[in-house]
Amino acid sequence: MLKLQVIVASVRQGRVGLPVAQWFVQAAERFGKFDVELVDLKTWNLPLMDEPEHPRLGHYQHQHTKNWSQQIDKADAFVLVMPEYNYSMTAPLKNALDYLAREWQYKPVGFVSYGGISGGTRAVQVAKQVVTTLKMMPIPEAVNVAFVQKYLNSEGKFEATQELEKSAEVMLQELNHWAVHLKPMRA
Ligand SMILES: Cc1cc2nc3c(=O)[nH]c(=O)nc-3n(C[C@H](O)[C@H](O)[C@H](O)COP(=O)(O)O)c2cc1C
Repeated sequence: MLKLQVIVASVRQGRVGLPVAQWFVQAAERFGKFDVELVDLKTWNLPLMDEPEHPRLGHYQHQHTKNWSQQIDKADAFVLVMPEYNYSMTAPLKNALDYLAREWQYKPVGFVSYGGISGGTRAVQVAKQVVTTLKMMPIPEAVNVAFVQKYLNSEGKFEATQELEKSAEVMLQELNHWAVHLKPMRA
């Protein structure tokens, strides 16, 4: 089965990102066409990009980079679960993307974004510039959650509406389509 990695882009204490990602992982498992893994940038705790050489060369010096490389290499598709910080993506996400090159390329990426009125969409637009430079294929079908706080219940669990469930399913279908057809490009 194709491997989908759901990357949690927010690492701050009390983040909404984790419950949103946990909901999405369940939706992706129900979808049934991916082997789904949650990748939490808080757990990875990568230092600010500290490799002496350009990632394109793949000459990694540090063990944390070698581990991150192995992690991303095995994926066939990604979903970035990301808030909007000052109209952009989070610094940990940009850092995690910058670390590698070949490991990302020819792989599709979907976005589950959230925030205030914009639902994180401005951050997604910024992220698209970065992921296309890494030769990833960002798909337009997305899950955008405006006013994310209202979907959290008293235990802090994310409770999606039918509309959000539907947009997750549509995104997963499209992501799977791209994942199937991009795999041969990496052979
Ligand atoms: C540093 C910072 C910058 C933010 N900037 C924006 C913003 O530009 N647009 C927006 O809609 N929300 C913004 N917010 C509000 C976030 O959408 C909200 O705090 C959300 O819960 C952040 O995701 P997280 O809890 O997973 O970290 C910002 C929050 C922080 C902490």
